[in-house]
Amino acid sequence: GKVFTYDPGFTSTAACESTITFIDGGKGELLHRGYPIDQLAEKSHYLEVCYLLLYGELPSAAQLEDFESRVTNHTMLHEQMMNFFRGFRRDAHPMAVMTGVVGAMSAFYHDSTDIHDPWQREVASIRLIAKMPTIAAMAYKYTIGQPFVYPRNDIDYASNFLRMCFAVPAEDYQVNPILARAMDRIFTLHADHEQNASTSTVRLASSSGANPFACIAAGIACLWGPAHGGANQACLEMLQEIGTVDRIPEFIARAKDKDDPFRLMGFGHRVYKNFDPRAKVMKQSADEVLDLLGIENNPTLQVAKELEAAALADPYFTEKKLFPNVDFYSGIILEAMGFPTSMFTPIFALSRTVGWISQWKEMIGDPTMKIGRPRQLYTGETLRDYVDIEDR
Ligand code: CMC
Repeated sequence: GKVFTYDPGFTSTAACESTITFIDGGKGELLHRGYPIDQLAEKSHYLEVCYLLLYGELPSAAQLEDFESRVTNHTMLHEQMMNFFRGFRRDAHPMAVMTGVVGAMSAFYHDSTDIHDPWQREVASIRLIAKMPTIAAMAYKYTIGQPFVYPRNDIDYASNFLRMCFAVPAEDYQVNPILARAMDRIFTLHADHEQNASTSTVRLASSSGANPFACIAAGIACLWGPAHGGANQACLEMLQEIGTVDRIPEFIARAKDKDDPFRLMGFGHRVYKNFDPRAKVMKQSADEVLDLLGIENNPTLQVAKELEAAALADPYFTEKKLFPNVDFYSGIILEAMGFPTSMFTPIFALSRTVGWISQWKEMIGDPTMKIGRPRQLYTGETLRDYVDIEDR
């Protein structure tokens, strides 16, 4: 038969061809359809990047307007879906709620689940991008016991999300445009990242031809883990636990200790071994947001900056090529905006949805696509005879 290689963690196995995202981990380069992430974060905005990821080119003004209006027209959730939220314990983690509710979409949208029909694939894609902020915001509102805030179609994607999270009945809520811009940038910086664990999960789940909404729910489940999307929550909680700069050496020492499972959250990356280009933009954004909000001397930001400097001056981290990743600074911005840490990973999930869908569409549309089926090295018992229970 075929010879196969053993590659735990797939550190050297390509599972697909793709034209969507390019990463050069050595150079710290991230390109979407050829465009560098820092230019996109600076000059573009999330829905335009969604278009780019989904269709391969930057849209014309008319194409963008049409795309934005299609997304906007799908932001509502079916009223019956509210029952799903209400089935959860009120203190459920919003990621648990999102996994469940997005999975439940597979039971609602029968007209967009035939993966062989390009039109249905398109509708499923638009529905997911449009509804994910609504679902994330409602998961949040439910867990804090506030009434759901319905989407508004006359404001932009990021503002709409902020409003659904923070508006309360009988009170005026004006979206701060500076925060909306920072929110949009966080979405943009997380939009896609080639074959990471959650994207590979979506591809593997979809390779059997499974329902697209269920496959995205699988991606959300994978993203939740602290080694992946859960790192942003874990990172901010770690910075808060450190609390003051004088405690940094203690935590650095723990991270270096082989007998201590503690890791510096927000540090290290499987692919980036020099720097994470998203972290650069995120750090700048954190400075801007705190500045514009008039939050000076934010203790968490101070700990973050000192911790980064201390780690970068330590040979343990430089030799192992451990640098701050995208999640190191995103939490500081989100916290300043008023989000609890439990919402950090849901925000990552809603941002990454377009990446999952773009990769799904690419895979489903590829005629050479095969079901994903990794092999194994069997290390268990060899053939032996069954032993009756009284003889064991
Ligand atoms: N703190 C301390 N030591 C670390 C860290 C860290 N954050 N990350 C890796 N190491 C050490 C690790 O102990 C190992 O040491 P040794 O070779 O002596 O055994 C070496 O560095 C290589 O680590 P690895 O786990 O084999 O590397 P990996 O490529 O499998 O893991 C990673 C990558 C991101 C999972 C890991 O660096 C990590 O756990 N970081 C903290 C969690 C985190 O911030 N994750 C977010 C990643 S970016 C956003 C996303 O993808 O969702």
